[in-house]
Amino acid sequence: MPQLPQKENPKRKVKDTQRNCYGFFDKMAESGLALGYNDVRLKTNYSSILPKDADLAAQFSRNVSLNMPIISAPMDTVTEAEMAIAMAQLGGLGIIHKNLSPENQASAVRKVKHKLNAFIPDPICIHASQTVKEVLEFVKMKKYTFLSFPVLDNSDNVVGIVSSSDFKFCMDGTKKISDIMAKKMISAPIGTDISAAYKTMMTNRIKILPVFNRQKKLTGIFTLADVKRIVAGLSPDYNLAPDGTLRVGAAIGVGEQAKQRMELLANAKTDVVVIDTAHGDSAGVIDMVKHCKRHHPNIDVVAGNISEPESAKRLTEAGADGIKVGQGPGSICTTRIIAGVGCPQVTAVYNCSKALRGSGVPVCADGGIEYSGDITIALAAGANTVMLGKLLAGTTESPGEVIFRQDKKQVKVYRGMGSLGAMRDNKASRERYGQASSPEDKLIPEGIESEIDFKGDVSNIVHQLLGGLRSGMGYCGAKNIADLQKTADFRRITLAGLKESHPHGLDQVKKAPNY
Ligand code: XMP
Repeated sequence: MPQLPQKENPKRKVKDTQRNCYGFFDKMAESGLALGYNDVRLKTNYSSILPKDADLAAQFSRNVSLNMPIISAPMDTVTEAEMAIAMAQLGGLGIIHKNLSPENQASAVRKVKHKLNAFIPDPICIHASQTVKEVLEFVKMKKYTFLSFPVLDNSDNVVGIVSSSDFKFCMDGTKKISDIMAKKMISAPIGTDISAAYKTMMTNRIKILPVFNRQKKLTGIFTLADVKRIVAGLSPDYNLAPDGTLRVGAAIGVGEQAKQRMELLANAKTDVVVIDTAHGDSAGVIDMVKHCKRHHPNIDVVAGNISEPESAKRLTEAGADGIKVGQGPGSICTTRIIAGVGCPQVTAVYNCSKALRGSGVPVCADGGIEYSGDITIALAAGANTVMLGKLLAGTTESPGEVIFRQDKKQVKVYRGMGSLGAMRDNKASRERYGQASSPEDKLIPEGIESEIDFKGDVSNIVHQLLGGLRSGMGYCGAKNIADLQKTADFRRITLAGLKESHPHGLDQVKKAPNY
């Protein structure tokens, strides 16, 4: 049969030769179709990867890496300090919500940062003129469990270090600290990371390592016990910043008050801020990204939420270090229904990540994840991380009390940040949906409030989610997330296919830990 000359499709000019799923999404786009998680499944591939060997290391933003790709959402029923600590200890990250006052949000960030004591920024010091007896009484009164201190002179300069063995071998309680302390001090310059500190401490057999700034003022100390635990890999999953603290993020809005909030969060040493708005492709967000990068270049900024590739490019050009994709896919969201806007999440993630390829700016797929398989799909479509609300809500670590209902069910509240309740309770929620000055009875919610079964510790939930992801990577033959993005290919499924995918035709189905 004679071949008709092929008309060139202008879209094909930007052919994404790096990824197997290009053809699939291109075809869908040509038919004007945008797809959600339930519309697709991944093709299985020849595999030499066992699920247990899949590498889950991920990147939330240019400089914030993770040991696994799950982020807890900045929602007032999901992430405060307790959740953020748990998430960082599991290798992920928690973003503290902004319905807290700026002071309380900064204090939640500090709580996470101070959870580990490898580096203590404001250590307890004692004075050279104190006696041994006085110090031991002080330690007893304060119930300290340690006996290592920097020693100060009358001008608050550090003149020595005293540790437990100095006290142990001192027979005379009336001796001055200056008589028993080590005067020859090994110290480290500001900016020393935890592995360098460990090396110095082991080489010099010292238990605490003071860190001085250029003006020779003490800025903190490393303590051997925690440094060793971290460097020796006794907590291999922990997501740690270079100074050995747990990583944490915090949400901010836009405008002058958000700029002040940003100052407090920067002082509290947040690793990353997330500009958390319902419409990220807006003048206010772009201005805020620029402001943050100008005033706090060392703190990563993730901006969102968006669902179009041009929006991803605009935010990246403004300086964003990470992009959050998701307008309306969330379990508690009604944005798509109330406002009629948005793009089904798999297509949104694919298009935005494609627009950013080569820029070094990662995409976080935010909202709509129902099962672990959706995480595999989100990452395969181009996301580097996923943000979860519902799946992490209702756990021991999520904010709020467990409610004992009359039907004996134990539940917790899970609500949208744009729900009526959240908007009524908090200005930040009203701002997220551009209704800061609306009177209470005129609010237009874009989310709902719900009760969710109490699920116990978040570590069990994350264990199941990562198990499902590993399994998916095994089926796809992907050794890590980059490999998954490169090799994965999709199939569109029908409603019948979806029905077949779920358990069907059975009575009395027992509850499974991951379904
Ligand atoms: P999941 O599906 O994990 O989604 O529960 C969590 C994400 O939903 C977003 N979010 C909202 N979106 N109205 C919305 O349209 C809301 O009230 C609302 N509250 C949260 C947010 O991106 C979150 O991470």
